[in-house]
Amino acid sequence: MPKTNKYPKIAIDGPAGAGKSTVTREVSRRLELKHLDTGAMYRAIALKFYRENAELTDLAALEKILKRTSIEFGDKQTVYLDDEDVTEEIRQAHVNEMVSTVSAVSLVRAHLVELQKKIAGESKGIVMEGRDIGSRVMPDADFKFYLDASIDERTRRRRIEQEEKGLSMTEEEVIAEIKNRDNIDSRRKDSPLTRVDDAILIDTTKMTFEEVVDSIEETVTKGLR
Ligand code: DC
Repeated sequence: MPKTNKYPKIAIDGPAGAGKSTVTREVSRRLELKHLDTGAMYRAIALKFYRENAELTDLAALEKILKRTSIEFGDKQTVYLDDEDVTEEIRQAHVNEMVSTVSAVSLVRAHLVELQKKIAGESKGIVMEGRDIGSRVMPDADFKFYLDASIDERTRRRRIEQEEKGLSMTEEEVIAEIKNRDNIDSRRKDSPLTRVDDAILIDTTKMTFEEVVDSIEETVTKGLR
């Protein structure tokens, strides 16, 4: 049955390196919808905890920190943590190393999921990317996609990304990092990374960026007719 909603809510989930971020950015540009990178929110909180030297088992202390922390997005996916531009810092190694652990803390998830639901509710259409968007944040999304790719392809993409940033990691180091993140993200108790039954699976391993974006755009525009 075609959906008549002119302002669709679109969920894009999947593991790191499946191409979610670049794809989501382009889909939101083509469809003129707001883009929300929920991973960036987990990263901003991880950075805050890092700076405050927070003990991740001290839930009372974490709650206090969360209450006085603000995360906002500016133009071009600029991320502000308490009004400071942290767009670059949240992609650095010290944040990479702790973000999966931080995002497994239920208190952190509850806080961010609430915020994300609020943003979704207030938006006139949105493309939201993450790990639990179709399952928990927007279970009623008009369209749900799950992007995946082989571990070799994800490793290759991650290495290119690292090189562009002037960082060098061996192939073994990158594979270990990806596997470690996959493990934590998919084994955590609270809303682990999973593909919900009503999500369309897109295996991006052998697809170009354009092909992935075209396929999502086509599904959405056809579905909205
Ligand atoms: O997509 P990313 O690599 O920037 O995500 C950073 C971390 O946050 C990753 O370990 C998974 C976690 N995450 C999550 O648990 N739920 C989301 N909706 C988005 C990200």
